[in-house]
Amino acid sequence: MNYQEQYKNSIENPREFWEEQAKAITWFEFPKEIQSTDEEGLIHWFKGGKMNTSYLALDIHIQNGRGDQTSLIYDSPVTNQLKKYTYSELLNEVEIVAGMLVGLGITKGDRVIIYMPMIPETAFAMLACARIGAIHSVVFGGFSAHELAIRIDDAIPQLILTASAGIEITKVIPYKPLVDEGIEEATHKVNNVVVLQRAFLKAEMKEGRDIDWMELRARSKPATYVELDATDPLYILYTSGTTGKPKGVMRDNGGHAVSMKYSMENVYGAKQADVFWAASDMGWVVGHSYIVYGPLIQGCTTIIFEGKPIKTPDAGTFWRVIEQHQVNVFMTAPTAFRAIKKEDPEGKLKANYDTSSLKYQFVAGERCDANTLKWLEDLLQIPVIDHWWQTESGSPMIANMAGAGLIPVKPSSVGKAVCGFDIRMLNEDGHEVQTNEEGYVVAKYPLPPGCLPTLWKETEKFKESYLNKFPGYYFTGDGGFKDDDGYLYITGRIDDVINVAGHRLSTSEMEEVVNSHKAIAECAVVGIADELKGQIPVGFVVLKQGVELSEADIEKELIQMVTKAIGPVASFKRAVVTARLPKTRSGKILRKIIRAIVDGTSFNPPSTIEDITVLDELKDLVKLKKLGMSSLKDN
Ligand code: COA
Ligand code: AMP
Repeated sequence: MNYQEQYKNSIENPREFWEEQAKAITWFEFPKEIQSTDEEGLIHWFKGGKMNTSYLALDIHIQNGRGDQTSLIYDSPVTNQLKKYTYSELLNEVEIVAGMLVGLGITKGDRVIIYMPMIPETAFAMLACARIGAIHSVVFGGFSAHELAIRIDDAIPQLILTASAGIEITKVIPYKPLVDEGIEEATHKVNNVVVLQRAFLKAEMKEGRDIDWMELRARSKPATYVELDATDPLYILYTSGTTGKPKGVMRDNGGHAVSMKYSMENVYGAKQADVFWAASDMGWVVGHSYIVYGPLIQGCTTIIFEGKPIKTPDAGTFWRVIEQHQVNVFMTAPTAFRAIKKEDPEGKLKANYDTSSLKYQFVAGERCDANTLKWLEDLLQIPVIDHWWQTESGSPMIANMAGAGLIPVKPSSVGKAVCGFDIRMLNEDGHEVQTNEEGYVVAKYPLPPGCLPTLWKETEKFKESYLNKFPGYYFTGDGGFKDDDGYLYITGRIDDVINVAGHRLSTSEMEEVVNSHKAIAECAVVGIADELKGQIPVGFVVLKQGVELSEADIEKELIQMVTKAIGPVASFKRAVVTARLPKTRSGKILRKIIRAIVDGTSFNPPSTIEDITVLDELKDLVKLKKLGMSSLKDN
């Protein structure tokens, strides 16, 4: 069935459509209800279905005689290691880690935080949790001890799994001290921390609490899978929202497995035994869905790449990996290609490698500027597919569905709605806008399988964040429009979320940190365009009366504070002092206008503005500080 027919069917007959897709995975018991509503009005998929996600990712392939196929390749230019695991070997590794968890008393429903770098053990840990029904929550390594503490107090984990350190290009990043600090700060006290000691840095262990991974492994017995309900949670993944507190996106087992299988086949066009590479991090949703679960459920070979697009060792590293491992489908964030393009504008390094194994190149996570898309298309001579989705959806919501028959690629468009997602653009009153007119991007509720059923322990917040703004619709937080041919375009977040090098961050959270500085009276942190990272945060700060500190000192202190509180991933590197901020008469800071001034885009000041002359002051300041000079223009 081609895309148009499949799509129509998925929207008109969702239950039948997803029942059919559900048959593509192996159930211990097929679901009794395809879609159901609980007493809180939340939608669940595949109630009554019995299954296990780890079984689907591993055992089933071995049972089907494919135990000797490579399941996982660990390619680490930063440690100069290359390891391959067949499906049978990966199962052995996962069973033993599952046994380690069981030995520590972890059972179904317990939470396990995984704070680890891009190494195979991170995937073993995730699959081991899934195997025994424990709920994992992977925390990205670029987040601070404080962010870890927030997640510890929300997820209330029984156990933390970590490694002594990670490597960022050549810089060794000790992880274990951050875990110690995070536990110290959190109210909830974790009983045990299992630490994988990496060869290049040994972590100090805390007597009675910390356990050496390899010692525990040596004394553990393998554990097999347990039968789970489709509606049992598989994981919690925290993501930035419009408040300082991250949202715990929950994923169930059944809907997720079906959506992984469906999207691998139909969106990415990846077949069993294909080599699928997502160059991201297991701490983000891309890593969960398309480094670990999706490729393995589809029986592909996946790659864990511990490196960067550049400097590990050079801007040819992606092309080297593609050739060496014969990658068929590749996805990463546009920022990675912008980094390569900056170092190797003519793509000369690519000529050293044969990348002909590649069928499709996907990009996502942030806006892909037309220049980068064109550069990549010229270089690769294959379809370069921009597609759009979010942590909440777990799989693509808008794409060019390569597996269901490619439609022509339109630069700057993210394609058309993926089957199951009824995407609309609404105005403030909840009515659909005209073609080519910008609106709020929403998807008709209920969402298809694999999307978040709710937020961890916060159903009211789930409704408030996503469902209440436009009744009957899930609100994505993005703005966008549809063109005359039905192609969809994303214009950016309409809330306080920014996207820095494909990493989703909250400016409100940064503002909370900046405002806690003793010299700051008030501030606005906004995302401004950046040639490499797409967006970067900049703080506009108003000082308290009588502050003696110099602007340079204040900036330095604020950078340190934000990095300490959120992590280096925040990339908070600029803070400028201003006499005042544009506000409404009721005192609301007009952040949108600040953003427009920095980006040099047009705007209409609201009639409620307190004093319009502040806008000229701000324009002068932006010029003086050379902000917004590297805007990411399409031409
Ligand atoms: N553990 C610890 N620190 C980390 C980290 C991790 N896993 N990941 C990033 N950091 C740190 C970096 O070292 C850097 O610290 P610094 O400012 O002290 O140097 C900071 O966080 C910002 O990292 P990043 O945004 O990655 O910027 P960068 O300048 O190091 O690299 C790119 C820029 C474009 C090369 C890089 O962002 C990249 O490879 N992006 C690929 C896209 C991607 O993976 N997106 C994820 C979502 S799909
Ligand atoms: P995350 O939840 O971290 O995956 O971030 C999701 C957000 O990233 C979306 O809400 C968008 O704002 C942005 N995003 C993801 N993919 C794209 C894309 N292809 N184009 C533009 N923005 C994107």
